[in-house]
Amino acid sequence: MTPTELLCRVHGCTFDDVLFAPQFSVVVRRDPTRIDLASRLSTNLVLKRPIVSANMDTVTRAPMAIVQAEEGGLGIIDRGFRAGDIEGQVREIQIVKRTQHGVVPDPYTIPPDAGLEQARDLMERSGVGTLVVVDGARRLLGLLTERDVRFVSGTARVADRMTPARQLRVHEGPIGIEEAERVMVAHKVKKLPLVDRTGRLLGLITARDIVKHRQQPFATRDPQGRLRVGAAIGATGDYLERAAELIRAEVDVIVIDIAHGHSVVMANAVEQFRQRFGDFELIAGNVGTGEGARFLAERGVNGIKVGVGPGGGCTTRITTSFGVPQVQALVECRLAVGDRVPIVADGGISRDGALVQALVFGGDTAMLGSAFAGTLETPGEIVHKPVVLPEAQRTVRVPFKVLRGMASIGAIKDRLDLEDAAQGDLAALGAEGLETSVPARGSARAVVQEMLKHLCSAISYGGAESLGGLREAFWRGPERYLVRLSAAARRESYERP
Ligand code: XMP
Repeated sequence: MTPTELLCRVHGCTFDDVLFAPQFSVVVRRDPTRIDLASRLSTNLVLKRPIVSANMDTVTRAPMAIVQAEEGGLGIIDRGFRAGDIEGQVREIQIVKRTQHGVVPDPYTIPPDAGLEQARDLMERSGVGTLVVVDGARRLLGLLTERDVRFVSGTARVADRMTPARQLRVHEGPIGIEEAERVMVAHKVKKLPLVDRTGRLLGLITARDIVKHRQQPFATRDPQGRLRVGAAIGATGDYLERAAELIRAEVDVIVIDIAHGHSVVMANAVEQFRQRFGDFELIAGNVGTGEGARFLAERGVNGIKVGVGPGGGCTTRITTSFGVPQVQALVECRLAVGDRVPIVADGGISRDGALVQALVFGGDTAMLGSAFAGTLETPGEIVHKPVVLPEAQRTVRVPFKVLRGMASIGAIKDRLDLEDAAQGDLAALGAEGLETSVPARGSARAVVQEMLKHLCSAISYGGAESLGGLREAFWRGPERYLVRLSAAARRESYERP
């Protein structure tokens, strides 16, 4: 099948319009720890698992981004903070970046003559249980832990309670994680301070971080061993200032996210971004056509977000009649940019099986919003609502959380600080998003893990040994895989009572 024939076959199609025909399986164990699911998020960033949580203010804040990165994907922190409130978004990035480390390059420090009250205060505020005691020249003097300050009152100073440096195991110069682990095990220590030749503090390695590295070998980490995280900005208003602050907070990738990315507004935003921030990792979107994808690729972005209207919380197609069914959009965009720029397949993945479709038809990674709605890590209050159980003829109170589209009237109002705006102003906003209540449930970690298992099963059905292998096999001979469904076949496949 030629690319043009493939395009014709998927024209007007979305996930539920197609199936893949099973192939001879070569996988013995459908196990996400054994099957290679690595994919490029952008030209310079690879994820070991191809899942990205959507930059929506009811989906991704620090807790969600942490779970996603720990599971091998990535979270993009939304920009749904009030205009001018850049600090809120920056804080979320800082929380993620401080969650795990290889080496903590800037551990919390305290001078030796500080009072214990001050030390307790700092431990509480920062949430860390160990402070490094240093002099004015940042030379290591000792360590002070929670245990050292517990139940101690009076006028004692840090120097009276700390473990002095001469009793500590200290390493001079930089050290790799594995070597650090060996030293810590051999000397039975849980903290390893690093110093330079003059005794000045270079960093701290903790046993807790080493254990995390072992337990989560797939986690998405930066070269310093910290979890990676992304952040979204707009294309007008405070977007450049926001980007500058986010980059200062060491965000790993910026996403310029607007509803219609094939636009003069986007061209200007990318140009300004490149002028100010050079080759900083940048994903832009959303587009839904080959022309739109090429337009972004030509502007030198590192990743393209594809999806106009497939999102669960999105009403763009209903209100404007514009959009492209997601399978068609992905195939078009993939054919337009080839392997030059990675694609994020954004939206419409409402059942686990659609994930493999998104990843085979064109997505290098997939972005999901509603799939994580209501989980423990989503922001927002739990509200208990009465729900009628007809069979039991009684009412039960069920916990719900809110999921809303970023273009819903509620989200726009919050972003624009329009609480006091006249009703006329609100009516003039063209809302293109829904606000719904979804049942509150357990952790997003379980959702991701379940999806990955199903993805591995799909790879096995597809006759491949890895995600990359399945993609290659599909694009080599799409006719072996692609099954277009009749209305009856769609019912048989995807509709259940
Ligand atoms: P799912 O289907 O996973 O899709 O919930 C998530 C994606 O939906 C998009 N999104 C919106 N699109 N109006 C839109 O047109 C909205 O209000 C809206 N909110 C989210 C977005 O691309 C997200 O990643």
